[in-house]
Amino acid sequence: MKQKIIIGNWKNYLSHKESISLANSLLGLDTSDKTRVMVSPNHLYLNEVNQILSTTDIEVISQNLTSAESKSDTGGITAVNLKNISINRSLVAHSETRIREKTPQSILLEIIPMGFPFVLCFEEIDQIPFDILNDNLEIILAYEPVWAIGTGETASIDHINEIHSGVKSKLSKLGLNIPVLYGGSVNPSNCKEILDSDNVDGVLVGGASTKYDQFQEIVNSI
Ligand code: 13P
Repeated sequence: MKQKIIIGNWKNYLSHKESISLANSLLGLDTSDKTRVMVSPNHLYLNEVNQILSTTDIEVISQNLTSAESKSDTGGITAVNLKNISINRSLVAHSETRIREKTPQSILLEIIPMGFPFVLCFEEIDQIPFDILNDNLEIILAYEPVWAIGTGETASIDHINEIHSGVKSKLSKLGLNIPVLYGGSVNPSNCKEILDSDNVDGVLVGGASTKYDQFQEIVNSI
């Protein structure tokens, strides 16, 4: 079985204390070589959480970035500064940030040449800029239908398979081997069916990833 990627997007649900406490709980997470686990805390706590988890296999990634290199980007998050604190991947174009940032295409055009890996979120296949993706960067794609995010309404497995197989067939025509994750109300009860699908390379989990027991169940479901 191919390794499945499980990403916990903590969004802005947790306080500083709660983020640190969850990071400390994650020190006890039992991971296997069947999974590759990442968590994405609030930017303010990214460095501290990364330091806590530095002795584990869990990768800590950013929830967003706004520029590649240092520049006059007040309030922004640059890829170069993320690298300075040993954060080597970011979510890009999550629907909750897309509404206030530059276009995904423009930020990707900046970070791809600098070799900064990312998880690109999309809700429609035509939002994926296939022409600028390549296999050198270890890119991850995540299908996140907006109506399923934070609503408790997960997409059906048939729907997930349909979208994922459409994306995968386009990728394979281009000779690209890029994992495609699903996100949207993933929880301990529905994760197994989703993760068991050959079209699904992993899950991007929001709310359930902020509760240690639930995240653990998801990670251990395969
Ligand atoms: P929920 O799992 O809370 O629906 O969030 C999904 C998501 O937006 C992950 O990035």
